Amino acid sequence: MSEEKKNPPIKVYGDRILRQKCEEVVFPREDLAQVAASMFLIMYGYNGIGLAANQAGLTDKIAVVNVSPTKSEDEQITLINPVVTWVEGEQNDILEGCLSIPGIWEKRKRPMSCTVDNYDFEGNKHTFTTTGLEARAVLHEIDHLNGELFIDGLPSVQKAMLEGKLKKISRWAKKNKLR
Ligand code: CO
Repeated sequence: MSEEKKNPPIKVYGDRILRQKCEEVVFPREDLAQVAASMFLIMYGYNGIGLAANQAGLTDKIAVVNVSPTKSEDEQITLINPVVTWVEGEQNDILEGCLSIPGIWEKRKRPMSCTVDNYDFEGNKHTFTTTGLEARAVLHEIDHLNGELFIDGLPSVQKAMLEGKLKKISRWAKKNKLR
């Protein structure tokens, strides 16, 4: 693993915060736009398409997603207290990765579409449906907020084959104070 240490660093596999369920945001909160903006900045700094609060060392139920290649602001999704209410279909054979598990890319089965109850900065509830890569990213981030990692959903044989690599990442993270 040769990637440079960025600032602020993202929490890496082995850090207990990645296994913590984030706490529901209680409205009103004045700082939500600011928190989201800084999370987008961190995510873009890593060239990621999604970032959950616990990856940034925060414990609020907030995540950000932007799957557009141009990082267009119109495509930004801020997830606050998101709840998946419906999933449909299936997407396979797509490699999924995670900024907190550097170097690991695995085919992970996901629904093709999902519908999510979400909240805006003012605490108003909105429902949206998304599909394909964006649905994959949204579901991945919601898993993070619930203390889950994408590797948890892999078949056990596939997971077992990753054990050695994961131990190495965890040790590397400890040595580099990334967890
Ligand atoms: Co992730």
